[in-house]
Amino acid sequence: MNSDHPPATTAREREPSEANVRALVEAFYRRVDDDPLLGPIFSHALEGRWDAHLATMTSFWSSLVLGTKQYRGNVQEAHRPIDDIEPQHFARWLSLFLNTVEARYEPAAAVQFMEPALRIAQSLQLSKFGWEYQIPAEQQELLAALKRRRTGDAPEPRFPERPAAEPFPAKFVGKPKDEQ
Ligand code: HEM
Repeated sequence: MNSDHPPATTAREREPSEANVRALVEAFYRRVDDDPLLGPIFSHALEGRWDAHLATMTSFWSSLVLGTKQYRGNVQEAHRPIDDIEPQHFARWLSLFLNTVEARYEPAAAVQFMEPALRIAQSLQLSKFGWEYQIPAEQQELLAALKRRRTGDAPEPRFPERPAAEPFPAKFVGKPKDEQ
């Protein structure tokens, strides 16, 4: 039983709030902690500091989606010392995060988390792996589709078929606002 996936009958949040952002952060990092690929990286980096991390991440996401301006950190600097991050860790991080967001929020609210997550992931990937690093195609497509959705351009994005890749939740991204 996966406790952070609300049952299908539970209504998803229509809008972010302080309380549901905190709940999202807790649910996401429970999944991260349980994940065989990501869990060890986080337990190693955060030994004895999980509570502080959850508080930082709540203020980070609240600043982004609620405009609370509480977060005062440097995301690039925070990841610089973590030297065991490899490309597949980003795919797993994004897959867990996007799926957790999708399970808990209505599409219009979900995309407010998804676009910054994909943008920041991309900038972390480029600084970790070098400017020559090729961002995976499905990740680029998803970010482009979210941007088109926000700006109202080209409502029908095409997602490349990549059965072997991490399953990014992309199904609602192409829908125009009035069809949600
Ligand atoms: C492979 C993917 C990732 C891994 C393994 C990872 C790992 C970590 C770890 C271990 C920390 C705690 C650092 C510390 O306090 O010592 C951290 C902090 C953080 N991460 Fe990530 N991260 C990943 C991707 C991302 C992405 C895509 C975002 C974008 C939303 C993000 C946002 C943050 C933020 C905001 C902090 C707090 C920075 C601060 O202390 O001010 N991370 N990450």
